[in-house]
Amino acid sequence: MVKTASNGIKELSMGIAVVILAAGKGTRMNSDLPKVLHPIAQVPMLAHAIKSAQATDPDHIVVVAGNGADAVRKATAEYAPDAQVVLQEEQLGTGHAVAQAKAVLGDYDGDILVLYGDTPFISDQTIANIATARANADLVVLGFHAADPGRYGRLVTDGDTLEKIVEYKDASEEERAITLCNSGVMAARAADMFDWIDATGNENASGEYYLTDCVEIARTRGKTTICVICDEAETLGVNSRAQLAEAEAAFQSRARAEAMENGVTLYAPDTVHFAYDTVIGRDTVVEQNVVFAPGVTVESGATIRAFSHLEGCHVARGGIIGPYARLRPGAELSEDVRIGNFVEIKNALIGEGSKVNHLSYVGDAEIGSGSNIGAGTITCNYDGVMKHKTTIGNDVFVGSNTLLVAPVTLGNKSMTATGAVITKDVQAEALAIARVDQVNKPRMAVKLFDILRKRKAKRNSETS
Ligand code: UD1
Ligand code: MG
Repeated sequence: MVKTASNGIKELSMGIAVVILAAGKGTRMNSDLPKVLHPIAQVPMLAHAIKSAQATDPDHIVVVAGNGADAVRKATAEYAPDAQVVLQEEQLGTGHAVAQAKAVLGDYDGDILVLYGDTPFISDQTIANIATARANADLVVLGFHAADPGRYGRLVTDGDTLEKIVEYKDASEEERAITLCNSGVMAARAADMFDWIDATGNENASGEYYLTDCVEIARTRGKTTICVICDEAETLGVNSRAQLAEAEAAFQSRARAEAMENGVTLYAPDTVHFAYDTVIGRDTVVEQNVVFAPGVTVESGATIRAFSHLEGCHVARGGIIGPYARLRPGAELSEDVRIGNFVEIKNALIGEGSKVNHLSYVGDAEIGSGSNIGAGTITCNYDGVMKHKTTIGNDVFVGSNTLLVAPVTLGNKSMTATGAVITKDVQAEALAIARVDQVNKPRMAVKLFDILRKRKAKRNSETS
């Protein structure tokens, strides 16, 4: 973030590399899944740290993996394809963990910002504050005032100077009384940080190489060390399932508050669940019990009615979705589209003002504008091996209970009769009827009832 210019004046530079520590075991989670892959807001915890990292526009993101490294590598590739993963085979401490990043950042001339994979809520503003503080100090540590300092490392300060960090286990009674604690986030020039880590030892209560020892080492080398303070809520770390639930609740209450501040109406905020990346426009109304999974954008003035589930989709202005609708990945809804109850839309483009109001499945499809898809319509997109596309033009009327056996195309202003099984393309303005003709048999109903009642009476007399 900063470099020292030849005239001695520190100036902002562009380079930052984020190192995310994610090798720890997370014993208290009591899980086969590595701790950093447990979900918060429907994505692995690690994805939150990655998102914070990405917000700094970094030259590098390096994830230090150890326990469950394969799974961590896979998740990293999903959320940050450009990130590199280094392996910390043995977890010998936070300093040792950062040292593993040397393999990637050994020659890097920018800053390292250290984040933890299990501390998902450090805000972009706080990271910006750290970057600003780096203009005035060689090492910046992020601290917070802890309501219950517990076993956090304590920040020993003298005025603006951070003198050292003492781990709880190594602290004196007097030091333990300090409530200013270490979040674990730290920034310094890469070369400096690696030098300081090289100088750390493991003669301490845990027998670990502490990253926190960098503070004292930097100071003995004449470097300036300071701390930046953030709200304790940002430093919430996850070590147990109970804390995972707390983190989820904290995320949700913040997301709800933000949505409302941004002009979104939530009828029952506590029942609406957001993903880490949900975007909702102004004057949209979200009714009760709605779930937003990852990748959802809803524009202004839409209504998401009760009990709907949305994932990987886009709802344009004025859309009315639900109640009880399911929008799956690739659902792309143009302005003023209506999707009603018990309708599932997947990988489908729905044109302006079109309606799919009742009990339908529309998958791998493209529907033009002004079309009406009748109740119970199904796009039969899957033949058991491959997926096929259904194309529906503008101003089409699809009769109730139509099966559209893809690949198939309905031309503009065409119509299908109720109960049709459409296997061939329908040209524009045509009506397609594809069902067995009706036959009415006079008095046959009476005869049939008679036969059935007699059969039942006989069966009853045999079993009594
Ligand atoms: C650390 C800090 C402490 C701080 C606290 C904040 C040190 C020595 N102590 O303590 O000052 O108050 O975090 O939560 O830094 N990790 C690795 N490899 C390792 C060890 C840890 O990747 O060898 C990762 C863990 O997965 C975790 C993070 O580093 O994400 C912190 O490790 P943890 O063992 O939880 O450190 P604390 O004892 O909590
Ligand atoms: Mg910890």
